[in-house]
Amino acid sequence: MAVQAAQAASGTTVDSPAGGPGTVLGPAAALSCRECGERTPLGPVFACEACFGPLEIAYEFPGGGTSGPAGLRERIEAGPDNIWRYAPLLPVPADVAAKPNINPGFTKLVQADRLARELGVTGSLHIKDDSGNPTHSFKDRVVAIAVEAARAFGFTTLSCSSTGNLAGAVGAAAARAGLRSCVFIPHDLEQGKVVMAAVYGGELVGIEGNYDDVNRFCSELIGDPAGEGWGFVNVNLRPYYAEGSKTLAYEICEQLGWRLPDQLVVPIASGSQLTKIDKGLKELIALGLVEDKPYKIFGAQAEGCSPVSRAFKDGHDVVRPVRPETIAKSLAIGNPADGPYVLDIARRTGGAVEDVDDPRIVEAIKLLARTEGIFAETAGGVTVGVTKKLIEEGRLDPALTTVVLNTGDGLKTLDAVAPTTGMSAVIRPNLDSFREAGLAS
Ligand SMILES: Cc1ncc(COP(=O)(O)O)c(C=O)c1O
Ligand SMILES: [Zn+2]
Repeated sequence: MAVQAAQAASGTTVDSPAGGPGTVLGPAAALSCRECGERTPLGPVFACEACFGPLEIAYEFPGGGTSGPAGLRERIEAGPDNIWRYAPLLPVPADVAAKPNINPGFTKLVQADRLARELGVTGSLHIKDDSGNPTHSFKDRVVAIAVEAARAFGFTTLSCSSTGNLAGAVGAAAARAGLRSCVFIPHDLEQGKVVMAAVYGGELVGIEGNYDDVNRFCSELIGDPAGEGWGFVNVNLRPYYAEGSKTLAYEICEQLGWRLPDQLVVPIASGSQLTKIDKGLKELIALGLVEDKPYKIFGAQAEGCSPVSRAFKDGHDVVRPVRPETIAKSLAIGNPADGPYVLDIARRTGGAVEDVDDPRIVEAIKLLARTEGIFAETAGGVTVGVTKKLIEEGRLDPALTTVVLNTGDGLKTLDAVAPTTGMSAVIRPNLDSFREAGLAS
């Protein structure tokens, strides 16, 4: 096992107690390389043996084509109010909904008319509010899929490198599944993220460094006997984990009445979520579940960590790593693994990648809260702030149907708004004092 783990660290394969041609994970047929297309049997493998490119799940959907599997739409609509309604499109066993799981998804798609008016949107504007997940971020979706892969491959410890939200999602999912967890974060994250990650009783380790240091450390750990038998959800289980983000695309379309939105604004950390939303939309088109029409995907970053936005603006295909310096810590990945794929998607769909500075992130968090009653974490401030900027610059069409993602809960990043948010007044408990404060109608 140690030798096999070392192979994983060198970017090739890792065998495990399970995996290989006999593994059945629903419609997942194999792993396929995003660079050269080489296929590999399902297993805890994340890089192509031929070219070291990233692997992703290749599917064989029964009866695909223009009408999709018979009765698929009806089957989905009759399914549970969580991501397992889409189990026929995910790399999970058919009986997944019956297993102990934190059952994320089917979060609200909020019609944001008051925000639309403030932003000058004449079409329809929606917030996909993923703060409503069990651990209050979209990361529950990706972890739920990774847990199924960990079970299939016989891993007993669940791990990850995290900018905060993933650590909490792994802690909760492992607790529910009865697995051990040991997760790694930069040591200086927001208290809300640290407490949320620690409360589920697993090991939480702060690393003296930024996320990119944490990630490097985890790659080393996978190659060491100390990490033997560990499923790192975003490293050796990454092909499975990443597929969880497709459910955002499925839900958005289903909630729009099985229609594609015209424009989506998606946050970028590693870029995985954005690439899988695109994959999910393309699948729905191929299966005939939505009409085939163009859509644009816009990526959003914080100015203080905007390597993909920089590359987009410079017209580059490669993303030059940066050292993050922003309040949007959940998006603070200076060397984003999926950056080049994000650039491809933004360019192919006619979207863009843009960024906003920290004061505008705070402004956008408050704007969303004041207009729609949604308290977003800093990542939501980034998407709303970028949406505002793109509309002001005439790059996002205000007359179309637009979906903006809020991927996390503001309660976890109170520090961002606390300095500029507080009580209107402190008064004595009598009416005179209330009137003196100028608050009477
Ligand atoms: C709240 C939130 N939104 C978005 C993202 C972006 O995820 P990805 O790495 O898939 O781009 C993250 C990643 O940590 C996150 O925590
Ligand atoms: Zn390859």
